[in-house]
Amino acid sequence: MIPFNKPAIIGEELKMMEQAINQDQLSGNNKFTKNCVQLLKNLTNCKEALLTPSCTAALEMCALLIDVKDGDEIIMPSYTFVSTANAFALRGAHIRYVDIEAATMNISVSEIERAITNKTKAIVVVHYAGVACDMDEIMALAATHDLWVIEDAAQALQSSYKVRPLGSIGHLATLSFHDTKNYQCGEGGALLVNDPSLLERAHIIQEKGTNRTAFREGKIDKYTWRDLGSSYLLNELSAAFLSVQLKHADKIYSNRMKAWELYDKGLTELEKKGRIEKPSIPDANTHNAHLFFIKTRDKREREKLMDHLQENGVQAASHYVPLHNSVAGKKFGIFIGRDNYTTTESERLIRLPLFYQIREKDVTYVIHQIYSFFK
Ligand SMILES: Cc1ncc(COP(=O)(O)O)c(C=O)c1O
Repeated sequence: MIPFNKPAIIGEELKMMEQAINQDQLSGNNKFTKNCVQLLKNLTNCKEALLTPSCTAALEMCALLIDVKDGDEIIMPSYTFVSTANAFALRGAHIRYVDIEAATMNISVSEIERAITNKTKAIVVVHYAGVACDMDEIMALAATHDLWVIEDAAQALQSSYKVRPLGSIGHLATLSFHDTKNYQCGEGGALLVNDPSLLERAHIIQEKGTNRTAFREGKIDKYTWRDLGSSYLLNELSAAFLSVQLKHADKIYSNRMKAWELYDKGLTELEKKGRIEKPSIPDANTHNAHLFFIKTRDKREREKLMDHLQENGVQAASHYVPLHNSVAGKKFGIFIGRDNYTTTESERLIRLPLFYQIREKDVTYVIHQIYSFFK
């Protein structure tokens, strides 16, 4: 069986975890966290990075940081992971889901504009498959209406928008280091802070609502409860593991890109014949080969292709069930405008196996199986 995903392992992770054990400091914000923060700053150009236990936790920090209150409205695509919405619903926000663009599966800027009201507090964009949303237009729209922009860049580390790394454009951004992501430590994440006015509180929120970070830096002689917060730190064992992945980010990137390009080239004929559609990457942007998807004619054809792949030893995966079609999604939000693409496009999308150690012959085999299905 060719699995859909295998977590990337570089090989030096255990050695680094051993070093973490020997430093006698396994709680967060110690040596390995600082090392990861520096690597993340280099990779993303963000102003500051805080390691968190997950991208979900980083999104919850965003909701606290921008002071989301009961009745505030947050605009986002319906085509996303539950955490994008859940983090804001937890603080009483009302979610306004909008449609995506079919080509990129990213939020539609014109639909955002239609969803803005005087209760809107923020726009959360998701760079699906590591391909950038239209950030210039989104930032301009947000500036006009005085809104926060949060980049859910869970999938988008090492991608760029017009030369700018993703995660460095919104006021805040979040990353995931879940084991399905390009760079991973089992479970992990980061909050990237680009608006300096949010930085001090970000540290307080991360440290259970206390000013412990200032205390550790020797700026104050004892720390106390200052604000709402929670335990949003990544432990040093995970940070030690992650530091290896971030150090070798280029190696992971180039292996994944080789596989991505092999799929892209190998499936071109099938696309030309009109049997499938492949991802479309806007010219000005680069992507990180996070995932390779194809789209079939409709949901039925997708199910049949997935069965065919499964029977022939290939594990493929569908992706998000649109949030506005889910039980909690309906409870905590509403779809604004028409669902032209969200449901239909998500139903015909299949993700193909793609991971750091995937072999060329496995990718070639998957391509062969897709052709054989369409024969
Ligand atoms: C767009 C998006 N946001 C958030 C998350 C949550 O990430 P984590 O598992 O690190 O909390 C995911 C996970 O797949 C995701 O795809």
